[in-house]
Amino acid sequence: MIQVSKPFMGAAELNEVGKVFQTGWLGMGSWVKEFEDKICSYIQSKECIAVNTGTNALHLAFDILDFKAGDEVIVPSLTFIATIQSIIQAGGTPVFCDVEESTLNLKITDLKQKITSKTKAIVPVHYRGLPCNMEELLSLADKHGLVVVEDAAHAFGSSYHFSNGSIAKIGSFGHLTCFSFDPIKVITCGEGGAVCTNNHEWAERIRKKRILGIDKDTWSRYKNERSWFYDVVERGYRHHMSNINAAIGCKQLEQIDNFINRRQEICKKYDEKISDSFFNGRLELLHSDYNQMAVFTYIVRVLNDDRSKLMDYLKSKEVSTGINYIPCHTQSICKNYRSENLITTNKIANEILTLPLYFGLLDQEVDSVVKLIRNFYETN
Ligand SMILES: Cc1ncc(COP(=O)(O)O)c(C=O)c1O
Repeated sequence: MIQVSKPFMGAAELNEVGKVFQTGWLGMGSWVKEFEDKICSYIQSKECIAVNTGTNALHLAFDILDFKAGDEVIVPSLTFIATIQSIIQAGGTPVFCDVEESTLNLKITDLKQKITSKTKAIVPVHYRGLPCNMEELLSLADKHGLVVVEDAAHAFGSSYHFSNGSIAKIGSFGHLTCFSFDPIKVITCGEGGAVCTNNHEWAERIRKKRILGIDKDTWSRYKNERSWFYDVVERGYRHHMSNINAAIGCKQLEQIDNFINRRQEICKKYDEKISDSFFNGRLELLHSDYNQMAVFTYIVRVLNDDRSKLMDYLKSKEVSTGINYIPCHTQSICKNYRSENLITTNKIANEILTLPLYFGLLDQEVDSVVKLIRNFYETN
């Protein structure tokens, strides 16, 4: 079976986890600090707080915004439900916005129309790893006094190209940027996440909230110790990362350039093959800019209502595919949130198909995936 995604982990990660075992300090400790420091220097972010999932990175970022009843957060419907659940958990009200047809990143014209006096935050989701238009979003946020919480679960390692020609990693220049290191991301910790920010006060608050609101614990645990005398300053959660997960992440980070390059190579190969005129009117490529992307998923649009049949056919030929995502506004839990004018989202909902993409995917496997897609059309 060719899987749609797969982690790549080996002896380096296992060896590092072995070192954690030897210390006997499995929970949050010195490896977490090391992982955070490594992320800060890789991304060039002033602060990084590592947590146990990307969902909880988002939860903490929203939690420190202290939403009051009715405060709204504008978010694309085309995202993983984790984005929405974390807004709701923090007491915010999601308002869904549409996406652009070429990239499936959020549509700023629609977002602008949805800003009201109740809007508190906006959430660009860097879908597939392609950065949203951050310059425009940050200036819009500035104008309306909003916070930008980036859902960068897909975009660890992606770079943003500013209009003046400068380039910066996602997570180095925004307000609050949330990453995921779950098993199928470009780098993984097994499970994990992180919030990056340049705002020291926000970072300190997130650090405390990550570990049950305890004021001193982070700094003693970083030395593989605990403080027994402390004050609990506010509501907090058990969202911290463990040494085991951080040890895996430290070793994965050392290989990230390799991981990104190979993923880009695979995507370019798919692009080239699917650009063949045979697929005209059958499949549609999304716009990608591989100079900016640490690509997370390879997604095509399947036209003519063929998606389910194609998925079933590929499955019968031992190729698994995916759907990222069923739009969130169609989920039962979201039925009372504003979701007007989601024109593109509704149009592409039954078209998007995720093809296999992971570091260990072989060229021959890419060839056979595309060949099978061709066979499907030739025989149907
Ligand atoms: C867009 C998006 N947001 C948030 C998350 C949540 O991350 P995690 O699975 O690490 O909780 C994911 C995970 O796949 C995601 O794709």
